[in-house]
Amino acid sequence: MARLADLAVAETTLTSPQVAHLQRLVASWSLPCDLAFADLLLYVPTNASAEEFVVIGHVRPATAATFHVNDPVGTRVLRSQRPAMSRCLLDGQRLEVPIAFPPPAGAVDDTVEEGVQAPIGTRFLLADHVPVRCGDEIIAVMAREGEAGLTRTFGQLEREYRDLFGRFCQMVEDGSFPLERAEQSGEFREPRVGDGVLVLDRERRIEFASPNALSALHRLGVRSEVVGRRLDAFGLADGVVRRALETRFSTIAEVERAEVSIVVRCHPLLNGGRATGVLVLLRDVSELRSRDRLLVSKDATIREIHHRVKNNLQTIQSLLHLQQRRLDSAEAKRAVAQSARRIGSIAIVHETLSSDATDEVDFDVVARRVLRLVEEGFDSPERPLRVGITGSIGELAGQIAMPLAVALAEVVQNAVDHGEAGRNLEVDVSLLADPREVGVRIVDNGPGLPEGFSLDRDVGLGLTIVRTFIISDLGGTMTIGRAHDREPLGTVVEFRVPRRLSEATSVG
Ligand SMILES: Nc1ncnc2c1ncn2[C@@H]1O[C@H](COP(=O)(O)OP(=O)(O)OP(=O)(O)O)[C@@H](O)[C@H]1O
Ligand SMILES: [Mg+2]
Repeated sequence: MARLADLAVAETTLTSPQVAHLQRLVASWSLPCDLAFADLLLYVPTNASAEEFVVIGHVRPATAATFHVNDPVGTRVLRSQRPAMSRCLLDGQRLEVPIAFPPPAGAVDDTVEEGVQAPIGTRFLLADHVPVRCGDEIIAVMAREGEAGLTRTFGQLEREYRDLFGRFCQMVEDGSFPLERAEQSGEFREPRVGDGVLVLDRERRIEFASPNALSALHRLGVRSEVVGRRLDAFGLADGVVRRALETRFSTIAEVERAEVSIVVRCHPLLNGGRATGVLVLLRDVSELRSRDRLLVSKDATIREIHHRVKNNLQTIQSLLHLQQRRLDSAEAKRAVAQSARRIGSIAIVHETLSSDATDEVDFDVVARRVLRLVEEGFDSPERPLRVGITGSIGELAGQIAMPLAVALAEVVQNAVDHGEAGRNLEVDVSLLADPREVGVRIVDNGPGLPEGFSLDRDVGLGLTIVRTFIISDLGGTMTIGRAHDREPLGTVVEFRVPRRLSEATSVG
């Protein structure tokens, strides 16, 4: 479409409302094209005297083989090569003529004449030239171009379609096609001629039904003869047809009965400004609908599973708390409490996953909840704790969010565990994100790492978990050191992980 506008501006004298008219024609002409069983081309003169034409639009039929195997858009023809084109444009006459293709070099007039020898390799096409009206002017020629002399015997269906194509050509000539405004289908591919065609008269009675349209009606439970009857006689709401007749716009609706869903697209057929009938396209979308329903129920199942996993983890957490209360050893109590907290961080991710249909979570929300969990577990009036969070990571796959959340909790817990008594403890968490990586930086104002600390030698379970998750599972990097921008010096930990898991590091 951009190409049409570019060509029109660069090579023709069309005004912008005229270009807009042709753009709308091209947006809706696959329907007449399918009815024509042939290619449609849009020719526009390159100057006012119509000495030369340029092809600015082309569409191939879905109902027949194409004549133009190569893209004809942008090619030029001289008036001398296609005299019918100029006559159509200047006199506003619809003309059907046989043409030699490709036009012989230096040809004066390639309209085929009886008995004239054409060069080897020449094919003949039958070109039907339709004047395209916009307001008071004929601004272009829409040509139906198909193989000439095809010894094809037309059946009733083809005759019906060719007749309908004629009605659309009349509308193009009148300037009433493309139709003023169309109701959009949005969700689905537009129904096409091959999906099923009904032709209704101005009283909304069926005049013709294609075999596919009959099958669609059959699936909707219509078993009797349909010709001569209205859709509402079969209990099918035909408001969409009525709307097309009254407004003279294209209308669309979905008719559902039991498990069957049919999209109904109505194009009013106009003549001299009056609606003389309606062309109805029917497309069975039952399969797509049932797939939608299946997906919805699958989403609900996945959410439910996350919900149950979260519940189970919380049960384990309460069992550990019960166990903790029965223990005497302070060390054992602490170990069990730490385990309960770690499980709590994982439960938070599952809870967040259960609230959404996707497998992504808003990590900013998860991080805040994990931090609150650490804060709640820390209850020491003589040592106030302030945990701040800045920045944003946004949506993150659950598989990445879970280890990252546990690692974050672990590091903040360390700040709490190894902070000095009798001082206000401050922990600042920054969430960092770029298109490829996400990162978390945690700075505290505690006593800092012990002298000579080594990540390889001096780690306990906490940093071991962090290292396994960040480096081995997520394929990321981590650093730990003194916070030089902090007074007094505290500890800074930073991890960075790729936004997406590579195959090799994918967490089971
Ligand atoms: N924020 C921090 N401030 C001061 N020292 C820290 C900090 N974080 C870690 N450390 C030091 O690193 C050591 C290892 O931490 P790690 O989390 O691996 O084990 P832990 O906290 O001692 O035990 P666990 O986490 O298993 O309960 C700690 O014992 C502590 O000496
Ligand atoms: Mg620790």
